[in-house]
Amino acid sequence: MFSPVLRRVCLSSRSSLARASSTQCVTLIEGDGIGPEISRAVVKVFEAADAPITWEPVDVSPVKTPDGRVTVPEGVIQSMERNKIGLKGPLETQIGKGSVSLNLTLRRVFSLYANVRPCRSVEGYKTGYDDVDLVTIRENTEGEYSGIEHEVIDGVVQSIKLITHKASMRVAEFAFNYARSAGRKSVTAVHKSNIMRRADGLFLACCAEVASQYPDIEYRDMYLDTACLHLVKRPHVFDVLVMPNLYGDILSDLCAGLVGGLGLTPSGNIGADGVAIFEAVHGTAPDIAGQDKANPTALLLSAVMMLHHLSFTQHADRIQAAILETIREGKFVTRDLGGGASCTEYTNRIIASLK
Ligand code: NAI
Repeated sequence: MFSPVLRRVCLSSRSSLARASSTQCVTLIEGDGIGPEISRAVVKVFEAADAPITWEPVDVSPVKTPDGRVTVPEGVIQSMERNKIGLKGPLETQIGKGSVSLNLTLRRVFSLYANVRPCRSVEGYKTGYDDVDLVTIRENTEGEYSGIEHEVIDGVVQSIKLITHKASMRVAEFAFNYARSAGRKSVTAVHKSNIMRRADGLFLACCAEVASQYPDIEYRDMYLDTACLHLVKRPHVFDVLVMPNLYGDILSDLCAGLVGGLGLTPSGNIGADGVAIFEAVHGTAPDIAGQDKANPTALLLSAVMMLHHLSFTQHADRIQAAILETIREGKFVTRDLGGGASCTEYTNRIIASLK
């Protein structure tokens, strides 16, 4: 099932043991489609860079509970409980077969309440914008994604947007804490409290309450429509943006588009007690799967985020510099970046660029 290069299994059964020996065991979900190819690229680059990570590959084929709910296999839960940290390739979502998204299931099972996506212009990959450097933080557990929908009468359906004080405070606190620890200057809360007065009003009140405890971070709020306008006209005015689930889903893809698309955008899903899963935000790319054409950058940069999260800063900076140097040089980049290199050639060039 797993490629031979990924058969290294963590010997330590507790992450504290792994940390004691200055290495971290990470649960690896290769994913579907191009997932195994781009996961292999990450493992190769990390090995070449001597990154202090041991991989524990797990299978996430969905399982049904006795009451008919779809969830992830027990092995995944045990592995994440041991390691607390995961790296995930894209997972296929079956459409129209009554199955739920495994991505949503993972977020629910591990209470991953904040989705973090840094979007930064990449030198060597020209877009309409040269100076984007912002981070979107999306509430990941409720809002329109609470799954509360019903048919009131024939032809009339209701979908409930759930906003709670607890989840709003949690993500606002995360956003301000992130801004402070990352040396960022401002946080913008994005909302529609003029329309959803109570739901977005509560979210906004929580952001304002948390902002009052961070006088060193500039705080403002902005309507979603105004934020869209400014993001495509003057993205450099933004720093950290925090928002409810659906707005975050849409705006984070918009921001990815500003810097070159989903193939270059990393992300992390952060939960309580240090639990986190880092993932590429693109899909399984079934049209190029198994052809050695995939661009592994998004998963590589997600793995770099993971190294930062674990405070392995030097390794993170070294690997990121090699990735950015390879893209800037432009000789061995994949087709989606305008080159003709295979995933393997691109990966090997990154390894050759490690300083
Ligand atoms: P997609 O992102 O898989 O593909 C869209 C286009 O982008 C395709 O032409 C593909 O070849 C290209 N592409 C995507 N990633 C690439 C990469 N790393 N390198 C080079 N080209 C790349 O989106 P699509 O086709 O809508 O979804 C396919 C499957 O992926 C679906 O089952 C969907 O549910 C799933 N999906 C999973 C996600 C996740 O696990 N986070 C996110 C989005 C979609």
